[in-house]
Amino acid sequence: MKKSGSDVRCVTLPAGMFYNCDCICGAARYIPDSSVDLIITDPPYGINGDTLHKHYNRNEDFVVDGYVDVPEKEYGNFSLLWIREAERILKPGGSIYIVSGYTNLYHILAALRMTNLTEVNHIVWKYSFGVFTRRKFVSSHYHILFYEKPSGTRTFNLESRFGLDEKNGDGCSLNNIDREDVWLINREYKPGVVKNKNELPLELLIKLIQYSSNKGDLICDLFLGGFSTAIAAIGLNRRATGFEISPAIFDTRIREIEAMEPGFLIPLLRKPSLQPRKNQRKAWTAEDIRYLVREFKKRRARGKTKKDIIAALGDELGRGRWSIIKALKKSANNGEQ
Ligand SMILES: C[S@@+](CC[C@H](N)C(=O)[O-])C[C@H]1O[C@@H](n2cnc3c(N)ncnc32)[C@H](O)[C@@H]1O
Repeated sequence: MKKSGSDVRCVTLPAGMFYNCDCICGAARYIPDSSVDLIITDPPYGINGDTLHKHYNRNEDFVVDGYVDVPEKEYGNFSLLWIREAERILKPGGSIYIVSGYTNLYHILAALRMTNLTEVNHIVWKYSFGVFTRRKFVSSHYHILFYEKPSGTRTFNLESRFGLDEKNGDGCSLNNIDREDVWLINREYKPGVVKNKNELPLELLIKLIQYSSNKGDLICDLFLGGFSTAIAAIGLNRRATGFEISPAIFDTRIREIEAMEPGFLIPLLRKPSLQPRKNQRKAWTAEDIRYLVREFKKRRARGKTKKDIIAALGDELGRGRWSIIKALKKSANNGEQ
């Protein structure tokens, strides 16, 4: 472990550099402009984090001490400062996912609106490890704000987990279900294992990384905590970097990270079934479109459903469902139907 000139501890690994310091000053000093492909981060919640554990039903002996929270009255300014750094270090087209509870979500949204980052999705992450309550409903979700830095091409690996043609037993698209914006992913129950106070489940991080990055991309977590983002990134053959202000928390995981085999998660991933279509990405000829429109109308007149016709014509013409839908729409807009 090295100390940089300013006494910041920095660990350099083949997968990336990790800093034991405040992320706002640390990013300003160590991370160049437009150098990061993806940020996934879970800032302190500003709700007096040190008492959070009292609401959870778990053995606290295995939870690492040292979690640093931010006083509520400073939360707005704190959010703006780190989000401005996040915007600066992201590449144009880079994505950022911010995990937040409800209490201080408005500060994060206000800070985001003061940057040029633009909203892509608001994801609700539901988990069944809720805070215990007696006289009200049980809180069991977090917010994940998915934003992008404009002026670039955003990575979104549409078929990284499920092919577009894969269906469940009810005939629904598995790809579509996986891309809905409410996610049910349970927190990991790891009895007897040392953990950080709010560790994100690997399943959630793997999903974000699969959709929003490629092999070798640099992924940054400004609030590393238990290093779960870095673990998922290294496990999927991405590079990782990040900051954790607490020495105790930093020390707990850094040795594990050093020993980690890059790509160790890849054999565990589900392999999507991808059926390349023979005419995928080929331009439509006027004759193809005339045939498509004629067949579509003919089959509709025979009472077939739109969905079935599109699937059948897709197979016949060697094109995906969206390509068929787009071609039909375009020809309707051009008044050709
Ligand atoms: C919600 S936790 C992150 C949990 C992490 N995503 C995980 O899965 O373990 C927030 C972390 O940020 C750290 N932290 C608080 N203020 C910080 C700052 N200014 N710079 C860097 N880390 C900070 C806290 O000590 C805590 O470990």
